[in-house]
Amino acid sequence: MDYSIESTPLEKLQCDCLIVGIYENLQLSPSGALLDQLLKGAISQLAARGDTKGKLNEALLINWLPDMTINRVVLVGLGKQDSLTGKQYRTALAAAIKTIRDAQIKSAVCTLAELPVAQYDWRWKTRQIIEVFGDALYQFKQCKSVVENEFKTEQITVLVPEDQLTGAQKGLAEGLAIADGVSLAKYLGDLPGNICTPSFLAEQAQSIGKKLSKLAVDVLEEEDMQALGMGSFLSVSRGSRQPAKLIIMNYQGGEKNSKPIVLIGKGLTFDAGGISLKQSLGMDEMKYDMCGGASVIAALQAAASLQLPLNIVGLVASSENMPDGDANKPGDILTSMSGKTIEVLNTDAEGRLILCDTLTYAQRFEPEVVIDMATLTGACLVALGRVPSGLLGNDDALCNDLLAASETSCDSLWRLPLWEEYQELLKSNFADMANIGGKDAGTITAACFLAKFAENFRWAHLDIAGTAWRTGPNKGATGRPVPLLMQYLLNRSSTLTAR
Ligand code: BES
Ligand code: MN
Ligand code: ZN
Repeated sequence: MDYSIESTPLEKLQCDCLIVGIYENLQLSPSGALLDQLLKGAISQLAARGDTKGKLNEALLINWLPDMTINRVVLVGLGKQDSLTGKQYRTALAAAIKTIRDAQIKSAVCTLAELPVAQYDWRWKTRQIIEVFGDALYQFKQCKSVVENEFKTEQITVLVPEDQLTGAQKGLAEGLAIADGVSLAKYLGDLPGNICTPSFLAEQAQSIGKKLSKLAVDVLEEEDMQALGMGSFLSVSRGSRQPAKLIIMNYQGGEKNSKPIVLIGKGLTFDAGGISLKQSLGMDEMKYDMCGGASVIAALQAAASLQLPLNIVGLVASSENMPDGDANKPGDILTSMSGKTIEVLNTDAEGRLILCDTLTYAQRFEPEVVIDMATLTGACLVALGRVPSGLLGNDDALCNDLLAASETSCDSLWRLPLWEEYQELLKSNFADMANIGGKDAGTITAACFLAKFAENFRWAHLDIAGTAWRTGPNKGATGRPVPLLMQYLLNRSSTLTAR
């Protein structure tokens, strides 16, 4: 894909396809109105006879225009005039690119960044075009010998007036880095467990480290983890033929002495449940149990490619969870790196077992904040569905920063309480704590478990079980929460440069 910015006036523009907008009251977007003038009212006549209602999520492809250097037009519904929120703007963009993609149009010019959208500027609006278009143009082709309906769209140009070029250029660069990150996270997620193993993830991270400056990648092997005393993490991988890896991506774009933001991802490349075996229906989706880890790899790639002025450490805890003669058994008691002992009451609650040692390990980086992300609990789907990721944490300022970033990135979050009262559910008769808290409040008790290993730093946890992939006929990874993480990092970068 090739994305660029242009400020050619409409009357001089030559293109295969132009994207303009129309509101429900049939008022055209500024560029739409200009085009209509050049076409002596042809577009408004189409609208007047009812070919489009201007509703959100609607797009009309006009395949032929008389005497024009613009070959086609996509007329995108914008809903009620003046009421575009960020999410509605993204909906309109998605409808436009879907129409273009499905009509196999090779290149298009998008004028929609001129629309008034909430409080957002050209930088944000340009960035969203790249993000939304990139999302729609992702296609997993790796394992197909014949790709039916291969997408043909190759080139997108964003139309920007000259006085807005500076902002739009920033938006373009950010959009490209984020869209590439999202597509990397989706690709890693969509790869099957027999290809995307912990070793494969480690190799991917290492090759990214080689390509980008200020990004060092190091991988801890099982012997290293043994030496560190990561008994909880290693108990999970003991049941698998694939060796576990703890991937460390260290990006030093900030001042030498500034404390790093540590991002931790659950990289469970396949979760069969272990001895507490999952049911077979839908078990294939447990290849997505590494989406937290993939998002961390993707965010480090995007942050390093933008050369953000921050220090960021990414830690990906990667393992499989399989049933085996040497696997964890219900009732087993583990000693974690922190020294706390854990009674395994359900071997399927393995994410927290690998994350707790990774949280303990994070301490050595003297983090400014730690944010972990994990497809951790099915209960999160029950509580919140597939719209927001769950947010829990021990620091209100950090949680509020993440909520603000989720608003701007349209990558939703919803905070759940992490009150002391819930800790009781994790009591064990035989060890310091149990790895599950019974059937109530599963997302909260999972976070309560992690909280015990995050007491010495500001920490937030994102439960992405409902948001990291789509289920059903359109099954596939979403690349979330990469947009949220990037917005958080961009916000952190701008407070630095403002100082
Ligand atoms: N990876 C799963 C969580 C999951 C389940 C994500 C369904 C997405 C969809 C996790 O390792 C798990 O199995 N959690 C258990 C915890 C339970 C045993 C306390 C769960 O949610 O059932
Ligand atoms: Mn599990
Ligand atoms: Zn899992």
